[in-house]
Amino acid sequence: MADRLKGKIAIISGGATGMGGASSLLFAAEGATVGVIDRNEEAGCAIVDQIVAAGGKAVFAAADVADAAQVNNAVAKVTSAIGQANVLFNHAGTIIIKPFLETTLKEWEWLMGINVTSMFLMTQAVLPGMLEMGGGSIVCTSSISAIAATPLETAYNTSKGACHMFARSIAVEYRDRGIRCNAVCPGFVATPHGLREVAELQKLGVDASEEALAVQQGRLCKPEEVANAALFLASDEASFINGAHLFVDNCFTAV
Ligand SMILES: NC(=O)c1ccc[n+]([C@@H]2O[C@H](COP(=O)([O-])OP(=O)(O)OC[C@H]3O[C@@H](n4cnc5c(N)ncnc54)[C@H](O)[C@@H]3O)[C@@H](O)[C@H]2O)c1
Repeated sequence: MADRLKGKIAIISGGATGMGGASSLLFAAEGATVGVIDRNEEAGCAIVDQIVAAGGKAVFAAADVADAAQVNNAVAKVTSAIGQANVLFNHAGTIIIKPFLETTLKEWEWLMGINVTSMFLMTQAVLPGMLEMGGGSIVCTSSISAIAATPLETAYNTSKGACHMFARSIAVEYRDRGIRCNAVCPGFVATPHGLREVAELQKLGVDASEEALAVQQGRLCKPEEVANAALFLASDEASFINGAHLFVDNCFTAV
């Protein structure tokens, strides 16, 4: 085990699968005690079992991160089990791929709930304790979609624009009280979310072929490559990095 998060207590929303799952494993391997909060109970418990089997410490609490009561219960459950978190990774999120004019208000609100309101709820539940302890690090999953719009993803692109500014706003408001808040912004990543996105875009006629992806970012990103970036932002190695947007996209947004 390494120790870049030694002594840290980290809560990871959406920490059961994909980049969140890779982060749960990596944060624990780097010495953090991890609280996984996710709606996928089976995968969440499996990740926790894997961490514990490897000699790490982790607990799971089920919640729909768009639901205030469920978030508060899950954070309370995790906090009583492992203590007050000084690292929060707001990662849970999802996507809707369809033409803007076919997107219903219900779908729009559903997506904003999971991608944006979740950050509001999770951070409101965890930040007061961080402030009491004198500081902490918050990482929010944004996306290349915050600044580069993909067609048929208006609701998603908009939600990630909000994540971008949420991270910056928390940083600016709380930096004098020991809080860092940054966003990690992946390109296309080989996770259940990313693979479904690529398949659905292709089906609807948007070129998300291997060739197109090769031009944009060389290849699909691996979940572990994003977990490494989130780890850095969460750790004290990033002590003067605050309000930043760290793109993990192999130049997708650079050209
Ligand atoms: N995969 C990509 O290409 C890509 C690129 C940029 C950003 N992202 C962002 O990454 C996140 C998706 O994660 P992933 O790619 O690791 O895929 P994923 O689908 O494997 O992981 C998402 C996790 O969030 C959980 N989750 C989803 N909705 C939830 C809810 N309402 N309540 C609680 N948990 C919920 C899922 O159960 C899952 O464990 C999203 O924030 C997405 O916007 C993904």
